[in-house]
Amino acid sequence: HTNHHRHQMGATPDQTPLRSKTLSTKKEHYERDFPLYKQPVEVGCFSLDSQRRFFNDNRQMRYYVEPDRNPNFDLRDGYRERYVKRDENVKEKLDHILRWIVANKSKLKKTSCPLDFDFVTWRGHLTKLLTTPYETKEGWMLAVTRFNGTLYISEVETEAARRERLNRPEWNKEMMYWGYKFEQYMCADNPKSAPDPGGVVNTNEAFCTVVQTRLTDHKLLFSGEVDCRVRDPDAPAAPACYVELKTSAEICTPKQQSNFHRFKLLKWWAQSFLPGVPRVVAGFRDQDGIVVSVETFQISKISQLIKNEYNCWKPTVCMNFCCDFLSFLKREVTEDSPRIVYLFSWEPHKDVTYSVHRDSPFSFLPDWYIKEMTE
Ligand code: A3P
Ligand code: MG
Ligand code: MG
Repeated sequence: HTNHHRHQMGATPDQTPLRSKTLSTKKEHYERDFPLYKQPVEVGCFSLDSQRRFFNDNRQMRYYVEPDRNPNFDLRDGYRERYVKRDENVKEKLDHILRWIVANKSKLKKTSCPLDFDFVTWRGHLTKLLTTPYETKEGWMLAVTRFNGTLYISEVETEAARRERLNRPEWNKEMMYWGYKFEQYMCADNPKSAPDPGGVVNTNEAFCTVVQTRLTDHKLLFSGEVDCRVRDPDAPAAPACYVELKTSAEICTPKQQSNFHRFKLLKWWAQSFLPGVPRVVAGFRDQDGIVVSVETFQISKISQLIKNEYNCWKPTVCMNFCCDFLSFLKREVTEDSPRIVYLFSWEPHKDVTYSVHRDSPFSFLPDWYIKEMTE
């Protein structure tokens, strides 16, 4: 098992032994049988309203409305006048998930017993892990704390990501809006109503599913934002009734088709496969931000779709890397304390490394959570 992990011995200038343990992210190391991944089960949900307030219910659920044959959605509409953007300077870390755990403590665990999960995190952090063996541009940092035996994983913004966010060009900011505007064209607020393209797009609002599942011997509890569900009340239970919405540039050339398969479908697959969301509905837009076609992708068929691409990504590599990374965390994150953070860092073309921090600004488990979970 450990032959994928290079255990390196180093030395500081004064020859004090320093053991730095690393994990390879090379895709060749992860090409083996697909690991066991249990069907994710929804154990709850929560909502964040237009002011980013938490509610332990599904009030922000939206309903998928099948679009016209020729949609003609103008994604630029409302960008200046009807857009309220979430404040990205506010780092929420795992707070909403922790609030959900506290609100559902009695159904999650028996009194004076620890939580029965090895890992608690956001789906988005796991998506980044799944795509790591194929990522060539953006690194990541994940803060990990062991508390009552459970490993909590919370992302830390890298310096490069922060610079990019603060220097984002205007055209890029507008394109980020387009994805949310597409959701507004496609979703209704209740099962019987129609979408309201004249309303305000407010990116504080979110409906999040909380799922439990198992990756080999790793018991996971994670939450992810869900765009909408099908309207039919008799549809299969969550997460099977959920629909992920995406936008992408219109595909006009074989090169664009190949890039779409190799890069975009990897991200789309990883994001939806994790919580068991069965389909993505994609709006393809032209240069002017007009959606010219809408297409459904079944997550279970994506690996077939990409098989003809030369040197393409493989789901098994993604899942095996994630699995080995979680095993690596269990081995290395040994000290059980809410005050300690093991900070795992990765840059493309490098191995994963980590450093340990006590009572540092990286600490992320709030006092109210520690208090609630310590009887
Ligand atoms: P698109 O992905 O359709 O462009 P999600 O698809 O995960 O529900 O996210 C909704 C929208 O948020 C995205 O729509 C995109 O506009 C924006 N968004 C999400 N993650 C982003 C990221 N890492 N960078 C830029 N925009 C992002
Ligand atoms: Mg979303
Ligand atoms: Mg979406």
